[in-house]
Amino acid sequence: MSMAALPLQGDPMSQPIPEFDTDPFSRQSVRDARAVDDRLREMAPVVRLPGEDVCMLARHEHVAAGLKDWKTFSSTSRPWHDPTSVRPELLLTDDPPKHTQVRAVVSNALSPRALSSMAEAFKVDAQALVRSLRQHEGSTLDAVSQITQPFVYKVLPDLLGVMQEGREHMSAFGNMVWATMGPMNELFDEAMRDTDKAVFDWAVAACQRENLSAGSLGMAMYEAADRGEITDQEANLLVGILLSAAADTTVITLANAIRAFAEFPEQYALVRSDPKLTKAAFEESLRWDSPSRMAGRIAMRDVQIEDYVIPAGTRCGLMFAAANRDPRKWQEPDRFDVKRSNSANLGMGFGVHACVGRVLALLEAEALLGALVSDVSDFELAGEVEPWMTTVGHGPARLPVKLRFS
Ligand code: HEM
Repeated sequence: MSMAALPLQGDPMSQPIPEFDTDPFSRQSVRDARAVDDRLREMAPVVRLPGEDVCMLARHEHVAAGLKDWKTFSSTSRPWHDPTSVRPELLLTDDPPKHTQVRAVVSNALSPRALSSMAEAFKVDAQALVRSLRQHEGSTLDAVSQITQPFVYKVLPDLLGVMQEGREHMSAFGNMVWATMGPMNELFDEAMRDTDKAVFDWAVAACQRENLSAGSLGMAMYEAADRGEITDQEANLLVGILLSAAADTTVITLANAIRAFAEFPEQYALVRSDPKLTKAAFEESLRWDSPSRMAGRIAMRDVQIEDYVIPAGTRCGLMFAAANRDPRKWQEPDRFDVKRSNSANLGMGFGVHACVGRVLALLEAEALLGALVSDVSDFELAGEVEPWMTTVGHGPARLPVKLRFS
């Protein structure tokens, strides 16, 4: 019998944690992730994955409390933790005080002040991209590979100071890093198999000091090492973390905003009539279909959640996306509503590990969505949306749309 199914010693009132009937990370479940995650959330406040000592929390109240309480839900281990994987063991995998020290370096470099000069450059790139889309008016475009990815995959490596050569590997690199956050199943094997040595070599080279441009965000990590705030090795890992954490999350959230504009034309009309709502539309798309399904943690003590006790040492998944659609917290959660209050949105995490790239993501959103809102009168879905076949990341890999311009 699994450890998690045993009542806690000395607590005869605790109930055995129920086992979910489905593997939420199988190929089929990934295709249907919203429904699977919602069903898990409604089954019980704590659910054990079939055949594994992994517990999942998916209700907003518990996910938010767990993210806030880093002493209880530590980041130093997580489900399917493999310390030898390509995923750097730094920052997201640390608790304070180590985490606080490293995070300060990144958050200084990504502060509103440090990024203020970028807003204009992002706008120029976004406007040029949207202008180039005019020639495709009325024909089917893929909003991921033709709109959001080209934008993010340009402005991000430009900002990081990554060389031009090899940027075509960003997508495969992202796939590989995201795969390491989930179980080592067939989707993991596919991500690793499709990642040839050229991708790996490019990622290694892209993060090296001698290949980063002067004055870039990437170089700022090495300058922090020069000041003794982190080591050179940590600076190198941080560049890799930024390159992976900032890419597909933003590509997908922007694509989800476009999808929502097509599915909820009255909401798009609202944003067009008041473009100051563009930022709210981005925040709402982050809630409506969050690009990260879960964060992994390890329980450092026995944790009581309603009638259940998670034993100390259990690896847990805190499910952002399901919590962001929890009907206990959100009215009509499946409705995209740019006027709703999003202060409890967990799409960028919460607590000490809450996304340090938030300001950058918002600047990118204001630039790209702002240019679209200004020029595009409506979006229409033009075919089947193909999901990204990865386990912990979630969102469209292909989003066929037709654009009409004003
Ligand atoms: C819409 C886009 C984004 C989304 C949805 C997103 C989502 C998240 C989430 C959910 C977390 C918390 C993970 C956890 O608690 O385990 C996180 C942390 C993080 N994000 Fe983002 N992110 C986005 C954009 C970015 C950007 C643009 C950057 C970098 C420039 C970035 C860098 C990071 C880093 C370094 C962390 C770790 C912070 C820490 O451990 O203290 N993210 N992000």
